[in-house]
Amino acid sequence: MREPYLLCLRCGEQSSYTRMLNNCPVCGYDMLDVRYDYSAIAQELLSTWAQRPFSMWRYRELLPLRNTANIVSMGEGGTPLVQSVNMGTMLGHDQIYVKDERQGPTGSFKDRQASLAISAMKEAGIMEAVVASTGNVAISYSAYCARAGIKLWGFLTSMVPADKMREVALYGTEVVKITGTYDQCKEVAASFAQHRGLFLDKGLRSIAARQSMKTLAFEVCEQLGLLKDGYGKWRAPDWYIQAVSGGMGPIGTFRGFEELYEMGLIDRMPKVAVIQVEGCAPMVTSFKANKEIPDVVTAPNTHIATLATGSPGIAYSQLRQIIQKYGGTMESVSDQESFRAMHVMAKMDGISVEPATAAAFAGLFKLIGLQVIHRDEIVVVNCSGHTFPVEKELLGDEWTHDVEMPEPTTSAPQEGILSALERLDDRMRDILIMDDTPEASRLLRRILQAYGSFNVREAENGRIGLEMVYQRPPDLILLDLMMPEMDGFAVLDTLKTDKELSKIPVIVVTAKELTAIEKQRLSGKVQSLMQKGAFSDQDIVDKMVEMLN
Ligand SMILES: Cc1ncc(COP(=O)(O)O)c(C=O)c1O
Ligand SMILES: [Zn+2]
Repeated sequence: MREPYLLCLRCGEQSSYTRMLNNCPVCGYDMLDVRYDYSAIAQELLSTWAQRPFSMWRYRELLPLRNTANIVSMGEGGTPLVQSVNMGTMLGHDQIYVKDERQGPTGSFKDRQASLAISAMKEAGIMEAVVASTGNVAISYSAYCARAGIKLWGFLTSMVPADKMREVALYGTEVVKITGTYDQCKEVAASFAQHRGLFLDKGLRSIAARQSMKTLAFEVCEQLGLLKDGYGKWRAPDWYIQAVSGGMGPIGTFRGFEELYEMGLIDRMPKVAVIQVEGCAPMVTSFKANKEIPDVVTAPNTHIATLATGSPGIAYSQLRQIIQKYGGTMESVSDQESFRAMHVMAKMDGISVEPATAAAFAGLFKLIGLQVIHRDEIVVVNCSGHTFPVEKELLGDEWTHDVEMPEPTTSAPQEGILSALERLDDRMRDILIMDDTPEASRLLRRILQAYGSFNVREAENGRIGLEMVYQRPPDLILLDLMMPEMDGFAVLDTLKTDKELSKIPVIVVTAKELTAIEKQRLSGKVQSLMQKGAFSDQDIVDKMVEMLN
């Protein structure tokens, strides 16, 4: 097997990989990458990998560390790939996968980067280092430096939430808070490192940092499983989505997909969707204007500090090249759309993410809406980081049910609690869902549970539904049209024959394209019609609230 070698990404010079060079020995360029003996690795390693624990270090032959004794590890990588449940149903899309990077040791995908970058520092004998960060890199590097016994200086902008800064400090890092933008912060960190003669983490230009992200691609394809009749090839996703600041994630991950492709382990390359927030979207605006040199946002205007890199530099042209080669797009979303997506992911699928990650999901919703991402495509979202209790503004005021306890008396105290809880129930409106598709029914129930005080009953067809109506008329009916035994049309016809029952508001939620005759049959009998897969949770709640008032 040929030894790994360094490749200059400008002039193509290949040099020996015996020590970590910073610059190309021929042209001086400061962006080098590592190449491996792919055919040998592909032949030898598949079976070896499969026997190792599921962690990023399983793929260590494709990572630039010479001696495994230098690995600094805390169980990074090897994160679950989970299929979206209710959110996917809501979007009418059943192949949305969440790569759950929240499950890294410090709660973000930067743990892969920290593990490899700090291991490489250890291997190079570095004892003190400097890093600039929008938050999570500093947290993650701090944890790994603590284990490796490396002193770290973390330069953070004052935009980073104080709780994140405290976490950095907790690991023993020297925190330097810069009142300014992240780009200014990077400059100050660089001159500090130079002045003191300290090792500076080069961000995107760091070989170890970029290469660590390849493991995301390896894991995702392995987790999507073998292609049917694909002669042992893994399945690649159609789309890989990530919210981007400096661009390290998708650039590194795509090198991983390329390596899999070069080794014949996948049969095609995915497309990339690069998502930024509107208040700091230099890559997106430049991409849409077809510019080669990116815009620079000197004053980012977003609450999402993690994504506030205003000057994209080389990352922009690298991502643009990836899109030109393999397809994909760049799109921006507002802070508000991101915060809303955060609620949707938490309430629909039980996945609580930080706002920077929510931006990726907001981007997904937007690209499906724009029909850039199609319903039959396999989508993987980098669920890049966990939320923290620092997101204080997110919930509005009324997120608790306050139960006033009566004065304690000598009688059993339980009664007081129960009657207080019963009063809560009193305020609930009774909603009856008639739908034969369990996924649709579960989604509707989940939306109602998450967004208000509703009592929800479910019927799997019109006949059972009508019986429930006779038993106790609901305040509102959510009605599917195509159901066995008795369909939605027949339910409506029956309800209309009864003076009282005909007053119950009905929202039809259907997957059916209606013919003119069918529309005629519904007219005057339903208050609203919603197409499955084409409404959002908020749409349906708004509509119901309007009808119930
Ligand atoms: C949670 C989270 N999501 C997304 C990003 C953007 O990552 P990048 O642009 O470095 O790929 C970051 C960067 O720190 C992050 O912490
Ligand atoms: Zn060169």
